Amino acid sequence: MISWRIMARLPKCGRAIFSLGLFALVGGPVAAQLPARQFLDPVQELAAIKAASTLDDDPADAEAVQQVCTACHSSSQFLGTPRSSSRWEQVFGRMAQQGARPSDEQVDRIVRYFQRNLMVVNVNTSPDEELGPTLQTSPETTAAITLRRVQRKFTGIADLAAVPGVNRSVLEGLKDRIQF
Ligand code: HEC
Repeated sequence: MISWRIMARLPKCGRAIFSLGLFALVGGPVAAQLPARQFLDPVQELAAIKAASTLDDDPADAEAVQQVCTACHSSSQFLGTPRSSSRWEQVFGRMAQQGARPSDEQVDRIVRYFQRNLMVVNVNTSPDEELGPTLQTSPETTAAITLRRVQRKFTGIADLAAVPGVNRSVLEGLKDRIQF
């Protein structure tokens, strides 16, 4: 499910049709806000995006991110800076304004990549649809988490790991992105 409403609203345009050359020629405020344009090596970009993905095992997701999100700038713009769902939504909305036009399939893949690798969640406040994809829990386990936090707030990773169905190795990889 796509929780980034703005991305979901993007018009269906089939595959992204960015032309690096074209963007290099665009003058004005857009070009002025990015660092001086350098040649982006798609192979290197894909390698960096894959290397930053410890929790998404579908290589096609990384490929979609490379295709869409490195059309105008390097992946270093976004790798290594996890954000909350609403902050990513804002970024994606701005990228759409700048001209990002992913296909529906690319949107799904990009959303999954970001949810798994770059999303910050709060176990005690984030809604189900944000928690589930990031913690990689089933709907039942996600519901158990949200039920339990109403009774008693979670205090840390060990507390969360005790909920049946929670995958500890996923939690290990998420340590820096889980708030309580
Ligand atoms: C059509 C060109 C274009 C595409 C495609 C594009 N961006 Fe950008 N991006 C920009 C421009 C221009 C800026 C600098 C201006 C700005 O921040 O709005 C930028 C800046 C950013 C920033 C820094 C903003 C901040 O607040 O720190 C992030 C993060 C980012 N992009 C992420 C992405 C992601 C993720 C994708 C893929 C979904 C993407 N971009 C696709 C043009 C693009």
